[in-house]
Amino acid sequence: MLDQAELIRRYLVTDRTVPRVRVNFITSLDGAATIDGRSGGLGNEDDQLVFDTLRMLADVIVVGAGTVRAEGYGGIRLSREDAAWRLGNRLPAQVPVAVVSSRLELDPRHPFFGDAVVRPIVITHAGSPPERRAELAEVADVLVCGERAVDPAVMVRDLADRGLGQILCEGGPQLFGDLIAADCVDELCLSISPMLEGGGAGRIARGHSDAVREMSLLHVLTAGDMLFLRYARRTPPPS
Ligand SMILES: NC(=O)c1ccc[n+]([C@@H]2O[C@H](COP(=O)([O-])OP(=O)(O)OC[C@H]3O[C@@H](n4cnc5c(N)ncnc54)[C@H](OP(=O)(O)O)[C@@H]3O)[C@@H](O)[C@H]2O)c1
Repeated sequence: MLDQAELIRRYLVTDRTVPRVRVNFITSLDGAATIDGRSGGLGNEDDQLVFDTLRMLADVIVVGAGTVRAEGYGGIRLSREDAAWRLGNRLPAQVPVAVVSSRLELDPRHPFFGDAVVRPIVITHAGSPPERRAELAEVADVLVCGERAVDPAVMVRDLADRGLGQILCEGGPQLFGDLIAADCVDELCLSISPMLEGGGAGRIARGHSDAVREMSLLHVLTAGDMLFLRYARRTPPPS
């Protein structure tokens, strides 16, 4: 079993003034991002501890609308202990969650909004349906980051301008593909689950870009047969 104090030491970023996009995913040994359409079947309690610790260390959690729909995101609340750690480190007790969407087919009564413990954020672009933007503005802060799609670089800048520079992206594959294409991935935390999934599940990134980004290994943690890899970008971010 992993120890949270050790995880904090391994994943803590000391300079929070520099915006940082950290992406967290889990995959099977043969590259599947899901089992039966969700990531939960790949994890275990050690992965949950890493997942929760990364949330605790973030300023904001960002997730694509497909993942909100598939995984039923809603009511994200850090444990009392994790909230106390944040308060002790001069951070707000809870972490806001932002959803990235183009179509904005998100019900304002969805638990993502209704059960949020901090006012959620909707990240969209100028071409999304204005009436849906207005409807969602009743239950969330709406950020317009780009003209015809969410531009990841604008998203990072706008979140950082709101004091939310330590960004934890929890997927999914389309959003990750867009972040890779825009060269906005500073870090990938990847859990490798000791399973083979011989079906048709997709991989953790999907997109149309032919971008190739080299990453450097920062650490490998093991717990039982599960691996926890931490990689950081090798080349400096575009200015
Ligand atoms: N293994 C893991 O760790 C992990 C993690 C997360 C998710 N998943 C799995 O991934 C699957 C979902 O995949 P997905 O690719 O559909 O997820 P996704 O990336 O979360 O969602 C895709 C949706 O996000 C919005 N979006 C993404 N990038 C955008 C951009 N640049 N501009 C505007 N909107 C953008 C669009 O929403 P609209 O359609 O609303 O316009 C798009 O349809 C689920 O099965 C989930 O369980 C696995």
